[in-house]
Amino acid sequence: MKKKLVVFTGAGISAESGISTFRGTDGLWEGRRIEEVASPEGWKRNPELVLDFYNRRRRQLLGVEPNEAHRLLAALEEKFDTWIITQNVDDLHERSGSTQVIHLHGELRKSRSSYDESVIYDCDTDILLGDTCELGSQLRPHIVWFGEMVPRMDDAIRITRQADVFIVIGSSLVVYPAASLIHHTRKEVPKFLIDLNIPDFPGIENITCIQDKATSGVATWIQTWTS
Ligand code: OAD
Repeated sequence: MKKKLVVFTGAGISAESGISTFRGTDGLWEGRRIEEVASPEGWKRNPELVLDFYNRRRRQLLGVEPNEAHRLLAALEEKFDTWIITQNVDDLHERSGSTQVIHLHGELRKSRSSYDESVIYDCDTDILLGDTCELGSQLRPHIVWFGEMVPRMDDAIRITRQADVFIVIGSSLVVYPAASLIHHTRKEVPKFLIDLNIPDFPGIENITCIQDKATSGVATWIQTWTS
């Protein structure tokens, strides 16, 4: 039986594809404060601005490609029962061939009802004010905003508990509950962290840090730990 590899990814893995991370030096996400465009309050205050923001992100996503880090992880399915648990709302893991992907914070290429979060649609075009779901309520991006439940968290915890190897790639590990996943790994499980800047993670045993870009960091991990 193949060992279970669980990879927890954040914005850093998509940076080399040209998608900017959330916590750059200016503290803004693509020129906007995160609360303005990623909270239920921001949505209530100015839905048009929020829709426009995610419409731009969706259009940008359709113009970028997965990078070598996404591809190398997808190829690891041959060797491991590989699960990707991602905070990213892009689909670059799926596009590079990963088949077991859990999105904790939603997906840009989906829309959903603003009345019932289980009413979800594929969406590759702009969402406009006045576009409604089958229940008649305004469509919104299928994104988990600050203060909202993380619906796939229980699945992510269950899979993390079964991990034989756990890798974190490109996350500042500051957004909860997602960042708490690593605490659900078994004690003896080898853990790795690949990031340009190694964040603090007190109380974690058995962890090896690779301070590098995602593309070369994943290549190094494969060379060192799987051959
Ligand atoms: P952040 O922007 O907080 O962190 C990105 C991480 O990637 C940092 O640790 C960087 O050092 C690292 N990094 C940048 N470029 C890299 C590269 N080329 N290779 C490797 N690492 C690199 O992003 P997340 O931790 O993903 O939530 O943010 C978590 C959540 O905060 C997001 O999912 C989003 C945001 O608000 C929601 O939208 C709900």
